[in-house]
Amino acid sequence: MGLYSAVARPFLFRFPPETAHRIGDLTLRVSPIWSALRPFLATRDARLETKVASITFPNLVGVAAGLDKDCRFLPGLLDIGFGFATGGTVTRDARPGNAAPRVIRETRQQALLNALGFPGEGLYAVESRLRKLSESRRSRILVSISGTDVEDISECHRRLQPLVAGVEVNVSSPNTAGLRTFHEPENLARLVSALVDQRDRPLFVKLPPWRSDDERDEMMPMARTSIESGADGLVIANTHPTEDDRLAVGRGGFSGAPLFDDTLRMVSEARDEFGGEFALIACGGVSTADQVWQLLEAGATAIQLYTSFIYEGPGLPGRINRDLLKRMEASGASALPTTRSSSPVGRGSG
Ligand code: FNR
Repeated sequence: MGLYSAVARPFLFRFPPETAHRIGDLTLRVSPIWSALRPFLATRDARLETKVASITFPNLVGVAAGLDKDCRFLPGLLDIGFGFATGGTVTRDARPGNAAPRVIRETRQQALLNALGFPGEGLYAVESRLRKLSESRRSRILVSISGTDVEDISECHRRLQPLVAGVEVNVSSPNTAGLRTFHEPENLARLVSALVDQRDRPLFVKLPPWRSDDERDEMMPMARTSIESGADGLVIANTHPTEDDRLAVGRGGFSGAPLFDDTLRMVSEARDEFGGEFALIACGGVSTADQVWQLLEAGATAIQLYTSFIYEGPGLPGRINRDLLKRMEASGASALPTTRSSSPVGRGSG
């Protein structure tokens, strides 16, 4: 059992989830700790390098949006071994988010339920924070943006795009009234086209999950619209909408281990439906190298995770990457499974 599971997690889990998150946030902001630990935690190997759209990351294990909403500790996340980190979701104006309780741990399932509703300091605070980061940090950062209005989202995109490697537009949070407007293909097309018109870095669209035929009939047109409007990639998917009276607002998004099978199925369906020309970041329930391998075989280009990090701590990205290398070596493969959309940077070369 590692230090996190034996000591840090039992300590953190004595607090309510948002308090524990604040403690984690403060710790991850102490940059010198994490740069000193980098050689012990992070795994660097050319065979792990991946190209996602036109961005090259040192490995394909990324942090999902929501963990660092105000982009306060992205360097710490990179130092512990994530290949890339997604900050946000950032909205144009500061927001308090929904009423509490708004995050619940489902410890036995290694899952979370949240109804945060985009609390955050807003675009301008995040912009000035990102400006202070070095070019080499920024080259591994995506930023997630959202809102209910095309103009507001475009402003976030315009101001943050020069400061990051790529932008993810979130049209899929189940916790924000008004976001469903972008489930309508014509509204989504208007949004994605507006962002594509001013794009000079890769643009990703984060979709809601689909778990039934009805949901599939709603989400596949969103995926198609995003690609046809010029997005460089999709993130599949956001949390799974769930009703729960323990949350003040009565409903929220479910995340963590139980999502994995759905993530694998959705990735495979999206790749089959739309072919190989777009980047596909798989997100939902990922915590092992084995799962990453399956997702790559199903057509993913990279993965993002959030909830497993809460349960497994800072050793997780390094562990997944080391296990990927072991698996490559055990199977005699010189590269990770080739994803149809990613150029093999360092893959297949040795
Ligand atoms: C999230 N997620 C999320 N997604 C997003 O696009 N913007 C956001 O602000 C947030 N906020 C957020 C808060 C909390 C507490 C959780 C648990 C999740 C969703 C997240 O990025 C991811 O899509 C899902 O959590 C599924 O991945 P995991 O957590 O199962 O790896």
